[in-house]
Amino acid sequence: MGLRHFLSLNDLSASELKLIIDRAIALKASLQDNRTRDVMRGKVAVLVFEKNSTRTRISFECGIAQLGGHAVFMGPAESQLSRGESVEDTARVISRMSDLVIMRTGAHERIEEMANSALVPVINGLTDFNHPCQLLADLQTYIEYRGDITGITAAWIGDGNNVCHSWMNAARILDFRLNIATPQEFRPNQALYDQCRSNVFVTDDPFEAAKNAEVVITDTWASMGQENERSERNNVFKPYRVDSKLMQCAHRDALFMHCLPAYRGQEVTAEVIDGPQSVVFPEAENRLHAQKALMKFLLDVND
Ligand code: CP
Ligand code: NVA
Repeated sequence: MGLRHFLSLNDLSASELKLIIDRAIALKASLQDNRTRDVMRGKVAVLVFEKNSTRTRISFECGIAQLGGHAVFMGPAESQLSRGESVEDTARVISRMSDLVIMRTGAHERIEEMANSALVPVINGLTDFNHPCQLLADLQTYIEYRGDITGITAAWIGDGNNVCHSWMNAARILDFRLNIATPQEFRPNQALYDQCRSNVFVTDDPFEAAKNAEVVITDTWASMGQENERSERNNVFKPYRVDSKLMQCAHRDALFMHCLPAYRGQEVTAEVIDGPQSVVFPEAENRLHAQKALMKFLLDVND
């Protein structure tokens, strides 16, 4: 396999995406049975993070360690990027020494620049535009709980943000319906919506979106970098809070998902996120398994 990057779910075919999820489920079972293989022995992955993280950093570092590899972490203030060194030069340097780059940044163009100059695979650990690693875990979680996702109805409630964009890609690739309810001014990216129109329906009515949905998903109303808009956003998004009334409108067995970090009482009530329909912690755990499967795929070290 030639050099492959993972900047978007669109970098995988439907069959590759399904294969990675199947392997993630298998890796989860092998970890539980203590059968992990050192397929990354001697390999080094560099994490270049220009934004904060708990799950993404920990899941990659733990996953790399479990596969016998080594992770080097560069946080927002540590590298020369924060002092103006170009992404291109950073990519050229890192990829002469390591086997894999995982980048978290703001503008999506920065990760494209990283991939364009890197000699090793680059994985998107979140940009302002999308969060494809999150979707690997979310899809794995849905499939583990409910089986095939093709043909279902999913409902995204809240901000048309990076995680929403990756759900849109997933809906198109795996052919399920995604209803998105957002205030008018926070709708998802129009060009992406145009690509996904046969699978994505956008409304400003959260009850219309949630109706009969098999999974209801939300995210923070103020993503990283939008902290100073929080109070204004809290007002606009109030009708989009996921509470028990909204969950009752969904399918009676609907799952609740959230990428975390969550803000109880804002985008979701404690009753829902801590209630029986919520799968947010298995979802967070699946970041570990899904990304191990992704790294094995990109490094072409499948056994
Ligand atoms: N869901 C997610 O990516 O969490 P972190 O920001 O903690 O990495
Ligand atoms: N939309 C959120 C996701 C965090 C994992 C953000 O970008 O901050």
